Amino acid sequence: RNRCDAVSSNSYSTDVTEFAEIEIDWDKIDFGFKPTDYMYSMKCSRGGDFSNGQLQPFGNIEVNPSAAVLNYGQGLFEGLKAYRKQDGNILLFRPEENAIRMRNGADRMCMPSPTVQQFVEAVKTTVLANKRWIPPPGKGSLYIRPLLMGTGAVLGLAPAPEYTFLIFVSPVGNYFKEGVAPINLIVENEFHRATPGGTGGVKTIGNYAAVLKAQSIAKAKGYSDVLYLDCVHNRYLEEVSSCNIFIVKDNVISTPEIKGTILPGITRKSIIEVARSLGFKVEERNVTVDELVEADEVFCTGTAVVLSPVGSITYKSQRFSYGEDGFGTVSKQLYTSLTSLQMGLTEDNMNWTVQL
Ligand code: COI
Repeated sequence: RNRCDAVSSNSYSTDVTEFAEIEIDWDKIDFGFKPTDYMYSMKCSRGGDFSNGQLQPFGNIEVNPSAAVLNYGQGLFEGLKAYRKQDGNILLFRPEENAIRMRNGADRMCMPSPTVQQFVEAVKTTVLANKRWIPPPGKGSLYIRPLLMGTGAVLGLAPAPEYTFLIFVSPVGNYFKEGVAPINLIVENEFHRATPGGTGGVKTIGNYAAVLKAQSIAKAKGYSDVLYLDCVHNRYLEEVSSCNIFIVKDNVISTPEIKGTILPGITRKSIIEVARSLGFKVEERNVTVDELVEADEVFCTGTAVVLSPVGSITYKSQRFSYGEDGFGTVSKQLYTSLTSLQMGLTEDNMNWTVQL
């Protein structure tokens, strides 16, 4: 049995806690949940500030059955990754962006949220405490899942009187079972993910429960996931259940603009910046479902999916295919540029990575 690595800058003890051996085949790691050694927790009352965050051994948490998060979905989550470099250093990718997005979401959901500095420090602390779980270079990453929850009890509909910020981590590999091979999507005709004025643009937990039905139906038919259209015109691309969407036509890259119904993905934003730095024209605009017919390449982006090429999209029983055998040229170029930067294989001239 192994002991967790001691982290000098943090005030928790590794003297008595012993943890299980890591029994992971790093060559076969997927995106399933795997418990690690420590989680981080910090509380705050309504109108107060978060304070006294601390690490504790990973495990179940006790929550009042009347908690606002359980009854009324007053909760947000984030997702970011840590990579292990060849030289042993650990890299985080744009953690302040997640902190800012959580603060924006918290405002929409009437919750207090940690400051950007508290968020980033808590992420660093949690990653360092669990560093033995970060996959070897090139084998995957440590997925970091910050949660913000209304854990105080309510019965009538109202913001909770108490909030919990919690971070847990899990080592992960590819999100889709296809690995880095192209995925097959179906355009959703019946269900919608978000409405104007709703919460589609924030990372609230209910947005993800709401897509499970359409996703299960699609998966039962053999598709990898669902591509949603806007709910007003049923014509403009929005996003996939767990990621943003891009199309490429004649080397011009287009993606639906952020307008409240689409999650402002940090990978989406990074891909746009990387593409522009490589000289591509990138348009953030309304992209119609008809443009899928003519597109040369289609790909998805997200923290979990990274950049995933789309091999086909089915719309009203018509199937459009992209790329002869796998990654399209533009998608591949963007994937390589982004991941080399995230994994520390190239110089970070964007200043996006944070080394631990
Ligand atoms: C992520 O990409 O990090 C997400 O939060 C999506 C989630 C459904 C895995």
